[in-house]
Amino acid sequence: MQSQVDFGYAPIYVYGHLIVTAITAPLLYLALKRRWPKLLTGAIAAIALWSFAAFAILNFVAGINSRMKLPTEQFFKAGEGSVLDMGAGSGRSALMVLESRPKATLVALDSFAESYTEHFHEDSAAGQARLLANLRSAGVAERATIKQGDMRQIPYPDATFDAIVSVAAIDHLGSKGAGVALKEASRVIRPGGEFLLVVLSKDAWLKFVLGPIWLHSGTPKMERWTTALRTLKFDIVEQGTQPIVLWIFARKQIAVQP
Ligand SMILES: C[S@@+](CC[C@H](N)C(=O)[O-])C[C@H]1O[C@@H](n2cnc3c(N)ncnc32)[C@H](O)[C@@H]1O
Repeated sequence: MQSQVDFGYAPIYVYGHLIVTAITAPLLYLALKRRWPKLLTGAIAAIALWSFAAFAILNFVAGINSRMKLPTEQFFKAGEGSVLDMGAGSGRSALMVLESRPKATLVALDSFAESYTEHFHEDSAAGQARLLANLRSAGVAERATIKQGDMRQIPYPDATFDAIVSVAAIDHLGSKGAGVALKEASRVIRPGGEFLLVVLSKDAWLKFVLGPIWLHSGTPKMERWTTALRTLKFDIVEQGTQPIVLWIFARKQIAVQP
């Protein structure tokens, strides 16, 4: 049985859609009972159905507050070495790697600043405590280091890491910030190192889920990410999509001596 962890995504992200369901479901009952005009009844029914379906997709298909599986088993298959998690948050992506690669060590890097508070409604100290509690609860804390820092200025020397993972984090920086963060990833990964990048996608699932009440910053299409990675001398090994996210597994080229 898996240990209990609490990733602590803010209630508005996890249950926000249910607020709409809670308002529209009784209204729909009234509308049907009192025979309100068909158009009005239909509109209320549509909003009630959408909000409940979006809640279900976000929680039970995309699993916003649940453990994640590696989107590809090929990532860090060798399993030994150091991994950097860029924008580790409360530990979802860190646990994904540490639990599936039991010989890996990991640096969980996060700014624990405004963006952290926006997603988890906690300050820096509480955020770091939550991350540590989750790592301990999963029994992987001794292989993890929590580091506060900005992924646009990663506080490690060149070629420090054997692999990098980043889930729903780099895409929160805007296109300029994301470009800087990818450049930093390219700097701190060793030649031949592996990079698993997971970002929110612009697919129909995401549009459906976000709807009018939960708008999030836009995120570039797959091609923009793969082009940026190729420019930084990564080879794209695999890529794919899942509901609300897209993922890319890339490998840093080994420079050929002239
Ligand atoms: C949506 S959360 C994702 C957390 C985790 N990777 C997951 O999959 O649940 C985005 C995280 O990126 C972090 N973040 C945003 N900008 C950052 C930056 N410039 N440097 C480091 N971390 C950053 C936020 O603090 C937040 O914890």
